[in-house]
Amino acid sequence: MNWGMKNRLSRIIKPGTGRCVMLAVDHGYFQGPTTGLVNLGETVNPLLPYADALMITRGAIRNWIDPSVDIPVILRVSGGQSILKELSNEIITTNIEDAIRINASAITCSVYVGGEFEKETIDNLSKLVDKGEKYGIPVLAVTAVGKEMARDARYLGLASRICVEIGAHVVKTYYTENFEKVVEACGNVPVVIAGGKKLPETEALQMSYNAVSEGAAGVDMGRNIFQSDSPVGMIKAVRAIVHDGMSAKDAYEIYEQEKK
Ligand code: R5P
Repeated sequence: MNWGMKNRLSRIIKPGTGRCVMLAVDHGYFQGPTTGLVNLGETVNPLLPYADALMITRGAIRNWIDPSVDIPVILRVSGGQSILKELSNEIITTNIEDAIRINASAITCSVYVGGEFEKETIDNLSKLVDKGEKYGIPVLAVTAVGKEMARDARYLGLASRICVEIGAHVVKTYYTENFEKVVEACGNVPVVIAGGKKLPETEALQMSYNAVSEGAAGVDMGRNIFQSDSPVGMIKAVRAIVHDGMSAKDAYEIYEQEKK
């Protein structure tokens, strides 16, 4: 890795703990006005002090986030599909020059292994890695899961390893049983988990704890934070698990306190 890439990555994955809490709010790029993100700024701004990085699209950041904010940006640069159609039909929507203008610390796209447009999404990743290597911008590959695919360690290990082999600098995947196998498949490339659909807070916290205990570098979580009845409570609790190694039970107390 060149100096710029290492520097950008160390703004996201904190050198002190080797871990990170990424706040994902890019859902609108294919889901439209997702619950909790209709007024994205109102939801997200109070959470920024507790996030290590913000995953967002260029349109959303320009509309709802003040440019003076001090947070590393993981810029979602892919899209082109919607929940109404085939999800894997994704293209690159944002060029590297615009990512640099936004001062992105990383860029991201999804890879649909097993999807109808699998090859095209792998091609998207490979092109982003080429650009990222050229300009010193790390690429986070999201292992997006099609409707028909089982989210087990075998499938997620396959999808994650392909992202690593194509050159991703960070892999985002889902937590599953035998998660260590997914982490092992990624070698030295850090792995973070998505939260997925909204779960009861206790379950989302336990999942976060299990993931970091089994080798994840942290979380890139969206709905389980911003759709919670206490988003600040949830991100503080997740942060305590990821950076301080707190148990899910103790972290739940942080959420409860904040909610009160
Ligand atoms: C999906 O492709 C997006 O990248 C989301 O940011 C991702 O799914 C993480 O959000 P959540 O924790 O809500 O699953």
